[in-house]
Amino acid sequence: MASPVDAGELGSTDGLYLLLEQEMLALEPGTRASIASRAPRAAEEIASFCRVQGHRFLGRDPDGNFVIERGDGLPVAGGARPERLAAAPLRADPRSGFAPRGAAVEAGGEPFPFDECERPGAWADEAPELYRQATAGVWSVERDLPWGELRPLAPPLERAVGQVMTFLAENELSALYVPAGHLARVHPHYTEVVLFLAAQMSDEARHIQAFTRRAEAAGGTLGYSTAASQSSLKSLMDPPDLAGGTFLLSVLGEGTFLDLLKFIEEHAPDPVTAALAQRARQDETRHVRFGLSLVRGLLQERPEEAQRLSRLAAARAEKLASAGGGGGIAGANRYVYQSLCVLAAGGLEPARLPQGIAKVQGLQDAMHRHRVQRLLACGFDAHDAESLSSGHTPNFM
Ligand SMILES: [Fe+2]
Ligand SMILES: [Fe+2]
Repeated sequence: MASPVDAGELGSTDGLYLLLEQEMLALEPGTRASIASRAPRAAEEIASFCRVQGHRFLGRDPDGNFVIERGDGLPVAGGARPERLAAAPLRADPRSGFAPRGAAVEAGGEPFPFDECERPGAWADEAPELYRQATAGVWSVERDLPWGELRPLAPPLERAVGQVMTFLAENELSALYVPAGHLARVHPHYTEVVLFLAAQMSDEARHIQAFTRRAEAAGGTLGYSTAASQSSLKSLMDPPDLAGGTFLLSVLGEGTFLDLLKFIEEHAPDPVTAALAQRARQDETRHVRFGLSLVRGLLQERPEEAQRLSRLAAARAEKLASAGGGGGIAGANRYVYQSLCVLAAGGLEPARLPQGIAKVQGLQDAMHRHRVQRLLACGFDAHDAESLSSGHTPNFM
């Protein structure tokens, strides 16, 4: 036991309880403190303090100091168990509420409605680093895109840009809403995952702003939003859990989106479209890495989850096939497909259209190849990776 705490002549109303409580917070449960006091009612007041706070009052030691054994109903002060700060817990207790990871949590709190409370599925090892990158590199739609360099385009190109921007914006809206639906259910002790999801939502907000603004910035308009696209995006909201949602959205959808954005950047008819596709792709690369990290972590701990994730993707493919008039290009947004061909052909000149169409075919091949690579990187076997990628919606996301 450490040397006695000198409480002087303090009584319960002028600082004795504050002093005792602070001393108790610094102790581990089961350890003892001795208190030197010259207050006239010290014995009664210290005994009362112990009853209320759940400590054992052990009377006086041979030196006349009061001895208290710390109970375990109270929190341990921050820093007393530094390992709790270091890593996301294997399991998190919903009764710790919004207490930040590492804080001392008083027992007896009511449970919060967090149901993502286990590390496999609620944690991604890369989340801390990706969150750091996300916040270090925030760009601005107003400041960082060359709006002043926009000049009127030929009408077919401007229409194609407006159509592609419409499609990008609706995809971005789904990429904002899907994590939003999961975030509030993730236990706050998976802190960096929660922060990353918040940053991702902020990225998607910026993308929505950029794409919708570009659609009208050079005198054009937004284009068509098809029922097939909406069905495809709505089905991203079906998985009930973060891992399932992240698998469909980030690994499969945003992964595929990376190739689309690269294609748009390469074939952009103006500097703003090129710049915003390039900026968005940098952000999406983080979202995809997050998804890969989360799903890879889950499958390492629970390999059997690969089957469940495969079933989620298969259920989505079936639903879209039955609702959207079959697979292949029939299920795709043909206005987007055509607009990509126009951008790749540099317009509607008949001599150049075949080349544009061939380039979009090349894009779809690259999307499939890269999806397979990402699925393998998550831990799926080659057969599943191939069949999951082949069944992916022709609506890209
Ligand atoms: Fe985005
Ligand atoms: Fe994204």
